[in-house]
Amino acid sequence: MAAQRLFRTLLSRSGTGPGPGPAGPRRASSSLPAPGTWSSRLSRLPHRDLYRLSVTDPDQFWGSAAADRLRWVEPFHRVRDCELRSGRISWFLGGKLNVSVNCLDVHVETHPDRVALIWERDEPGTEVKVTYRELLETTCRLANVLKSHGVQKGDRVAVYMPVSPLAVAAMLACARIGAVHTVVFAGFSSEALAGRIQDAQCKAVVTCNQGVRGGRLIDLKATVDAAVKSCPSVQHVFVSQRTENPTVMGQLDVPLEEVMSSQPPVCPPEPLDSEDLLFLLYTSGSTGKPKGIVHTQAGYLLYTSLTHQYVFDHRDGDVFGCVADVGWITGHSYVVYGPLCNGATTVLFESTPVYPDPGRYWETVQRLRISQFYGAPTALRLLLKYDDSWVKKYDRSSLRTLGSVGEPINHEAWHWFHSVVGDGRCPLVDTWWQTETGGVCIAPRPAEEGAPILPAMAMRPFFGIQPELLGEKGERLSGDDVSGALCIGQAWPGMARSIYGDHDRFVEAYFTAFPGYYCTGDGAHRSNHGFYQITGRIDDVINISGHRLGTAEIEDALDEHPAVPESAVIGFPHDIKGEVPFAFVVLKDGVSERGAVLQQLRELVSTKIAKYAVPEHFLVVRRLPKTRSGKIMRRILRKVATETTGDPGDVSTLDDPSVVKEIIDAHRRYTEQRAEKKK
Ligand code: WTA
Repeated sequence: MAAQRLFRTLLSRSGTGPGPGPAGPRRASSSLPAPGTWSSRLSRLPHRDLYRLSVTDPDQFWGSAAADRLRWVEPFHRVRDCELRSGRISWFLGGKLNVSVNCLDVHVETHPDRVALIWERDEPGTEVKVTYRELLETTCRLANVLKSHGVQKGDRVAVYMPVSPLAVAAMLACARIGAVHTVVFAGFSSEALAGRIQDAQCKAVVTCNQGVRGGRLIDLKATVDAAVKSCPSVQHVFVSQRTENPTVMGQLDVPLEEVMSSQPPVCPPEPLDSEDLLFLLYTSGSTGKPKGIVHTQAGYLLYTSLTHQYVFDHRDGDVFGCVADVGWITGHSYVVYGPLCNGATTVLFESTPVYPDPGRYWETVQRLRISQFYGAPTALRLLLKYDDSWVKKYDRSSLRTLGSVGEPINHEAWHWFHSVVGDGRCPLVDTWWQTETGGVCIAPRPAEEGAPILPAMAMRPFFGIQPELLGEKGERLSGDDVSGALCIGQAWPGMARSIYGDHDRFVEAYFTAFPGYYCTGDGAHRSNHGFYQITGRIDDVINISGHRLGTAEIEDALDEHPAVPESAVIGFPHDIKGEVPFAFVVLKDGVSERGAVLQQLRELVSTKIAKYAVPEHFLVVRRLPKTRSGKIMRRILRKVATETTGDPGDVSTLDDPSVVKEIIDAHRRYTEQRAEKKK
């Protein structure tokens, strides 16, 4: 109760934006940095010194940043308690705060009419602006709706919506009352959605009647209806009306706008512990079952806000344009939490890069005066195939920083983005990070004024990040010009805390291969100058148009077909999507209708996972290459599919090496047939 009182006092005090306000946080321990250390001293240091401090004295660095940049209900008494070996990660212990207050109320106090969101709707020229005051009111109404329908602190709420102000309000409403949101990308199938709802045991779902993308309508509500049939934990489905089209409302369904209008626009924020859950976000790993990555309150918020400011050089008055969907971590960290914590104006991009034409991004930049444009290489690779006039006819003088995320950016796309889109005058930051890292970990910025940016390279660790390259035997690779498994040697506040409901799996997946390090699953090269270049995944995860997917998930879907005893999926290079799934399938003896089975397999993957997961290539083989212990050797399949020489590499560990010749022959026939078809 005392905390609640203090919270109210803080809220009613007119502060000076994000920060501790006149009183500052109480210092509970002499080892904590003095109030104001960040604002008055550290934030003025050169970036090189800040980085050094962040890794040599994380308590001082993060403690002062957290105290000064976030508003606390109760101050933390200890900066961190982390042990990577056991996956124990706690930051800002004892502190209490509310994320929605930091993203909304603190800004409403100082600039209520500043635009928080610009919803760039699918139909060009119909954008909607939402001020901080309006977003706070909408969030409070939605929070009250959740509360009045029994959603309480700690309950999980699934959000199955395209990017929109109500999706953002739903996330912040959960944060306001201490519920845990799990946003599911609205391109996932009903089965994929159901699997996530079941794993998280969600009590409610927030969705819309339909989505609108590239001029097409997508029946989201129908997908939710199909999903919740197998989800007994769901008590209510809140349905927003994105389109005028009527929706059939079932027993669980609640018309969202209607019930919001009768709720008050204020809702007292729940004071939450720094380490209470903020959200779960499901992502793929090397097994078939997606993992519910757990992020908590204070550390995540601080890390997204600091990276948003420093990596993208965000300043007051900027319009931040991250075109990611809220269904992915990029949307969480750089559409919602980082920008809003910094009081920014953030763009919600609902459309596609080619709707109604390939000039859409740049027309949007001109119309909204976007300062930072942050997108995925796959979209750039698609756009650079069109004439440059689609870019040049629009005024892009508002742009100051360009950013790329989600997959390696190739040189051609990097140069086109930099010189055509940015006219060669905007720093282009290739940002490397993951759902698990919470925010950007390696990127060219921040760096000293004038420090070079090398093309197609993530380059420099962010504050607090200590990248290490490890060799196959777990040895630390020192020096430059080396390649190895990319690991991180010290905990940072934005990192994931667990896998929902399975902490052992968390430890196993990230902290066991290289004890004492966070293992990213990516490989990297450290150049002669000590800069990092990501070389791609070292596990069975592939990246399709920037969407991460475990090959095992696709295999599990294929293997459900009664005619398929087993299958193996690998990533195959694609010039726009980056990678596409290539499936090797074994069919049962006597299956004659191969074409029909392959079509059923396509549909199976689409209904079990999502359309984008459907393999582009299917090769029917008699057997798969396996080791003596029965493990499928995907390395050999990768070689067969990608090496024009037909050299499968070392096959000595195979149980029966003759299988390789069979597969090479089948592959040759497959490529010949495709070439024939193209003619
Ligand atoms: C890949 C997306 C190369 C990488 C934020 C990582 C990248 C996975 C880059 C995480 C980059 C992300 N260069 N590869 N700049 N950024 N990746 O969880 O393989 O959807 O492990 O997070 O994307 O994907 P996720």
